[in-house]
Amino acid sequence: AVLADDGERFAAPELEAELAAKGKYDLLEVVRNISPETESFIYTRQSEPLGLGHAVLCAESIVGDEPFAVILADDLIDAEQSVIGQLMEARKARGGGNVLAVEDVPREDTGKYGIVSSEPIDSRTSRMSHIVEKPAPEQAPSTLAVVGRYVLEPEVFDHLRSMPRGAGGEVQLTDAIALMVPANQTFAYRYQGRRFDCGTKQGFVTATVHFARKTGYAV
Ligand code: G1P
Repeated sequence: AVLADDGERFAAPELEAELAAKGKYDLLEVVRNISPETESFIYTRQSEPLGLGHAVLCAESIVGDEPFAVILADDLIDAEQSVIGQLMEARKARGGGNVLAVEDVPREDTGKYGIVSSEPIDSRTSRMSHIVEKPAPEQAPSTLAVVGRYVLEPEVFDHLRSMPRGAGGEVQLTDAIALMVPANQTFAYRYQGRRFDCGTKQGFVTATVHFARKTGYAV
């Protein structure tokens, strides 16, 4: 359903009318109660697949000159406190800067992630000294991988705008972050939570089973 902002809640009039007509009042109740607390969403569209950095750049005029969060939906994370909330707290403790969620991955998987080197500050936070996009296992500087949660300073847009395109004509978010690392205000944070890589069939099925069990459906 396309949800339209009616100023008070996000309504799906066609779906709601259909459910009411069929007497499916239990489902109607569910649809009416999924309205988010925020008042409005603003959408933008990446018209060409030119990489994650390019996708983020598409949101520049909407975000403006403020720190912002990036959430990659294919990394689904079940966490007691939202990972973005965890990153925002870490950012506050450091007095600002970029904060990226990280976890250790098997060395053979480094080619799937942005990989960071960093110096520990506390048990979860470390200061980044290096970040590289998808290095081969034998070239990876560590096995600490970036997962799809970022809190970034708006200066990243300046780098995304002026950077040359990388491999495959893509603009990599990792490359823009790498340009900010020397300023010493880019941090890696070992988030708390369980991640499901929904970009793979196995991860998607595992996530489905996990959340089905959690919400009480027998699987
Ligand atoms: C993107 C980023 C990569 C990051 C990953 C997390 O890659 O480019 O640095 O580690 O998300 O899921 P993608 O999975 O889009 O290829």
